[in-house]
Parts: sequence; structure tokens; C-alpha cells
Amino acid sequence: MSHTTWSDVDSYLCGRLLAPSPELDAALQSSAEASLPAIAVAPNQGKLLDVLVRASGARSVLEIGTLGAYSTIWMARALPKGGRLITLEAVAKHADVAQANLERAGVADKVEIRRGNALESMHQLLDEGAGPFDFVFIDADKENTLPYFTLSLQLSHPGTVIFVDNVVRNGSLIDEETNDAQVRGMREFVDHARSERRVEITAVQTVGSKGYDGFAIAYVTA
Ligand SMILES: C[S@@+](CC[C@H](N)C(=O)[O-])C[C@H]1O[C@@H](n2cnc3c(N)ncnc32)[C@H](O)[C@@H]1O
Repeated sequence: MSHTTWSDVDSYLCGRLLAPSPELDAALQSSAEASLPAIAVAPNQGKLLDVLVRASGARSVLEIGTLGAYSTIWMARALPKGGRLITLEAVAKHADVAQANLERAGVADKVEIRRGNALESMHQLLDEGAGPFDFVFIDADKENTLPYFTLSLQLSHPGTVIFVDNVVRNGSLIDEETNDAQVRGMREFVDHARSERRVEITAVQTVGSKGYDGFAIAYVTA
């Protein structure tokens, strides 16, 4: 099986299952025009986030890593009336593009972009007594996945769902000798997660238009 097949199957699935969305297409287009990296979730993964937000009954979402707000729009649309989403972004240009995309998509009233380093923003949220959040999507610098996960737990309640993206990293996750800081970050996260008593957690490999990767999903129990 090749990357071409994975992309073709993604096109087939997205073409048949996902409703067209000019606003989501525009978010990707304006991100590309502003030279943001093309590392947003694939459309069918955006829809997976949508389904998970709905299925978990989430009214509050925390996203770590905004980019151009593509995934943000998917999740904001899935929230019920009165639902809120806070998304954390360090790069000012990304946050600017994201804000415009949220406004064009008509969800800016539900979403707050917090600019700055996400670790600092999460400590601020804790200091403010924000949360607990019902759904957390971790998708920023992979080196910090474990601290993001640990802080997310502090911002959670029993029943919170935590979704961690890009865990498998083209299979390099199992390379014990790796010098890649992003892979090491994911290995630290997985090693910690297996001993974390407050969650039920699994991880799943995926292939598709974004290549070979995978995600972890955790349910907070206590
Ligand atoms: C993979 S992209 C997010 C993609 C987005 N969730 C989507 O699917 O549309 C990661 C984002 O995290 C941001 N980021 C990286 N390190 C960060 C940090 N320490 N604090 C906050 N944001 C950070 C990057 O600037 C980038 O915009």
C-alpha cells in the first residue's frame, strides 16, 4: 500500500461522507496563502473531532495548538448553543490568520484564542480557576506532549476526553535510540500514560492523506 492509495481512499471517504464547507476550505486556503505550514488535521480527522465532541456531550473544549483554526472550526461547530472553546497559540501570525478564519466561519463568538506559550497559558488557566474542560485536543509542539497531558488532567473532570494527535510519527515511536525530540516527547507521554491511574487510554495507528501516524485518546475517570 502506498501513500497515493491512502490519499485516494481519503478523497473517496471525504467526498462521500463529509458535507462541503466553503468556510473550512477558505480556512485552509487563507492559511496556505499566509504560508502557514500545511499541518492541520485532515478533513476526516476534523470530522472525527466533531463526532467526539458531540458524543462526549462537551460544552467546553480546550485546544493546544491553533495554527489557522481549521480543527478549531470543526470542534466549535460541534459545540451546543452556549458552548465555549479556548485555543492556545504561540505564533502571532498563526493567531491572526486563525482569528480571521473563525470570524469567516461564524464561530468567533464561541472561541477565545490565547496567544503565547501554551504551557504558560495552561498555568494561567489553572490560576484563573478556568475549566474543568469537557474535551481537550493536544496538537502543538510534540516535545511538550507529556506536560500538556499532565496539565490537561488538572484542567479536567471525571468524564473529560483528551485526544492527543501525531503519536505514532511514521512508526518512529518505537525507536528507542531516536534523537528526534518530537518522537522522544511522544515516547515520554506513552510511558507516563500507562502508569496514569486517572485515565483509561488507548492509541491507534492511522494512514491517510497526512501519511502514517496515529492518535491517543483518554477518558478521565477520577
Ligand atoms: C500542528 S499545528 C496545529 C494544527 C491545528 N490543531 C489544526 O489541526 O488545524 C501546531 C500549532 O501549535 C503551535 N505551537 C507550537 N508550539 C507551541 C507552544 N509552545 N505554545 C503554543 N503554541 C505552540 C504552532 O505554532 C502551530 O500553530
